[in-house]
Amino acid sequence: MAIRICPSILNADHSRLKEEIDRVSSADLLHLDVMDNIFVPNQTFSLEECRRIIADSPIPVDSHLMIANPDNDAVLYAETGSSSVTFHFEASENPASTIANLKSNGVRVGLAIKPKTSFETVAHLLSEIDMLLVMTVEPGFGGQSFMVDQMSKVEEARDAISKFSGKAPWLQVDGGISLETIVIAAQAGADTFVAGSAIYKAQSPSEMISQLRLAAALKL
Ligand code: DX5
Ligand code: ZN
Repeated sequence: MAIRICPSILNADHSRLKEEIDRVSSADLLHLDVMDNIFVPNQTFSLEECRRIIADSPIPVDSHLMIANPDNDAVLYAETGSSSVTFHFEASENPASTIANLKSNGVRVGLAIKPKTSFETVAHLLSEIDMLLVMTVEPGFGGQSFMVDQMSKVEEARDAISKFSGKAPWLQVDGGISLETIVIAAQAGADTFVAGSAIYKAQSPSEMISQLRLAAALKL
């Protein structure tokens, strides 16, 4: 199974973002956390800042929208040049139409669920998306502890995805990923891993990316 590592720049040094982005260019995707202070109690990058980050990034950008109105606004992030756009199921009134709308804008489409949302709730949308994001913390902040109780949800999702005969969605986890917890998440079936603090607090982010990749591939 292919493994993907996605550094989150949420807790990088925002006063020198270009350098911070360059430090993680050996990763697969740059994870961009967009927060509106409504869906989550925190605010991050404006659309204009997202455009600049995407222009500065040598690797594809994975935008994770923690915003209240994805049915209207998710498409704006597809237009910024994101490679993939992930929105929250809980914030959407019509996820099927937002998925279709994003697809027609040529991006990969991700659907995210918060810790209290079951896999069953979104199972019917699995064949429509390119990635399912199972949050392993309550969205809003970096540096929180990995919620191991989300692993049964990852297992359920992996079980459903393994029954796909054609193109199968990626299974992403986000929150509290470290050299230890990535093994637990990989064993449960995740293949795409967001890591913020683990990568940016490391002395060498690129070395940490290699170690995370290895730990997830070997699952030990
Ligand atoms: C949290 C964000 C995460 C966050 C992860 O709401 O979605 O992407 O940056 O940070 P760590 O890896 O520090 O938990
Ligand atoms: Zn995120």
